[in-house]
Amino acid sequence: MADTRPTPTESVTPSTASAYLNPSYWDERFSKEEKYEWFKDYSHFRHIIQPHLTPNSSVLELGCGNSQMCDGLYKDGTTNITCIDLSHVAVNNMRNRLLSQGFKDIKVMQADMLELPFDDECFDLVIEKGTMDVLFVDSGDPWNPKPETMSKVMSTLKGVHRVLKEDGIFISITFGQPHFRRPIFNAPDFTWSVEWTTFGETFHYFVYVLKKGQRSSYEDIQPVKRFEVPTFNLLHEELESEDFTFLINVDELNS
Ligand SMILES: C[S@@+](CC[C@H](N)C(=O)[O-])C[C@H]1O[C@@H](n2cnc3c(N)ncnc32)[C@H](O)[C@@H]1O
Repeated sequence: MADTRPTPTESVTPSTASAYLNPSYWDERFSKEEKYEWFKDYSHFRHIIQPHLTPNSSVLELGCGNSQMCDGLYKDGTTNITCIDLSHVAVNNMRNRLLSQGFKDIKVMQADMLELPFDDECFDLVIEKGTMDVLFVDSGDPWNPKPETMSKVMSTLKGVHRVLKEDGIFISITFGQPHFRRPIFNAPDFTWSVEWTTFGETFHYFVYVLKKGQRSSYEDIQPVKRFEVPTFNLLHEELESEDFTFLINVDELNS
């Protein structure tokens, strides 16, 4: 099936993946780029997330960028949505776009996912697509990420866990493979259960569904064994060049 995503212009693609960690990179990018959907658009994974939502669910989206995922959620009946992004340009553009298209109820605010400015236990569902992956772009050895990386990742996850209601759900859509992500999601700080599935035609993206309060026992968690990760085909037709720049730096597949 043909991929109809808008392709980013050369001018918004950084020369090195570490630029994704620089907030001014995103401001500059969003001042040029009207829309871009990381990985795939909502239609490709809505069947996975819809079972976890009701019309009354309160949803927080981390790092919305210029994605239209919130439009999809809204059209599917969940209207209590808050989108955050660190980039004030992304936030202004998103606000203007949503207002002009009649999505008046969706709240959009500038905020850092590492320091979520929300009360404890106020969201039924927190979702992110490609946003936490930004934290991993210079993580070093993916089996043993740098302490700076882990500190940011854990701040984000602790914030997400805190703002989720007692039985809330965190959905993370990512390139990050289970052997790298499971040990992090399963840290003893968290009470959520960890399940994952994939979507995508040939190349697969991962969707982690973390259900707060559902972890049965820490003893049930199998340790992850280090092993050789298979090489991906660089010429894979489903991967655009920017996605791949992001991917190789997220998980350093050939390390
Ligand atoms: C890879 S893009 C993903 C955008 C969008 N979720 C999508 O699927 O198209 C990462 C987004 O995260 C935002 N971002 C980066 N660091 C952030 C942080 N600490 N807090 C909130 N947003 C952040 C960037 O501004 C950018 O919009």
